Amino acid sequence: MSTAKKEYKRITTKTLVDMKSNNEKISMLTAYDYTMAKILDNAGIDVILVGDSASNVMAGHETTLPITLNEMIYHASSVVRAIDRSLVVVDLPFGAYQSDPKKALRSAIRIMKESGGHAVKLEGGKEIKDSVKRILNAGIPVMGHLGLTPQSIYKFGTYTVRAKEEEEAKQLKKDALLLERLGCFAIVLEKVPAKLAEEVAKSLQIPIIGIGAGSSVDGQVLVTHDMLGMTHEFNPRFLRRYLNMFTEMTNAFKQYKNDVKSGDFPSEKEQY
Ligand code: KIV
Repeated sequence: MSTAKKEYKRITTKTLVDMKSNNEKISMLTAYDYTMAKILDNAGIDVILVGDSASNVMAGHETTLPITLNEMIYHASSVVRAIDRSLVVVDLPFGAYQSDPKKALRSAIRIMKESGGHAVKLEGGKEIKDSVKRILNAGIPVMGHLGLTPQSIYKFGTYTVRAKEEEEAKQLKKDALLLERLGCFAIVLEKVPAKLAEEVAKSLQIPIIGIGAGSSVDGQVLVTHDMLGMTHEFNPRFLRRYLNMFTEMTNAFKQYKNDVKSGDFPSEKEQY
């Protein structure tokens, strides 16, 4: 049974803000290709994130740092071709926005023009303020990302929960307010204490979308391959697995192999 309160024909950045004021939670999942995006859009997922987690999930890198702007554009344009309803948000990859606001704008324009994505997501707070401002001034919607920001993994040194200490929590609240004031339409909060996430969500007008940030935020995001159980070695506490695709797919592949080896496939009905 659907829990959506209102039928939205097409999700826009404004729809998400309306959802927050109507107390309707926002559903967000990742996609990096046409086929997955088609299924997510058809299932009514509100926001599809072309995450730089493609670096891990698609390319097998240890971190999100190696993925390039060209690779993100390739993934995003495949996703956009599948979409009728969902809002498509595309991550600006590491190195495409941190060093210089003009470069950040050029990167965001390339994403919008070459992929057809609807918005970009950037990691960080006050340190990327000028880049966020410049992108917003060009009319490109920006989603923020605070808390555990995987592009800074070598600064953090670990993927554990962020902002448990008072000082970091204070800075996170300031950064969230700053991003709202600059004009971001939503913020992803990753791996922070649920109490802090709730405080941030309550104090801002724009939606807070959590991943490992508890239930008192305005929406949730997961990496699709994780929630489908395709990436079976990744087991954070915040992850709910809806399928066990690793086992299901392994069994299907084994069955196919057996059928080929035994001559059972193809049958008479499966040939011309
Ligand atoms: O890249 C990604 O998939 C993300 C989500 C984890 C929020 O940024």
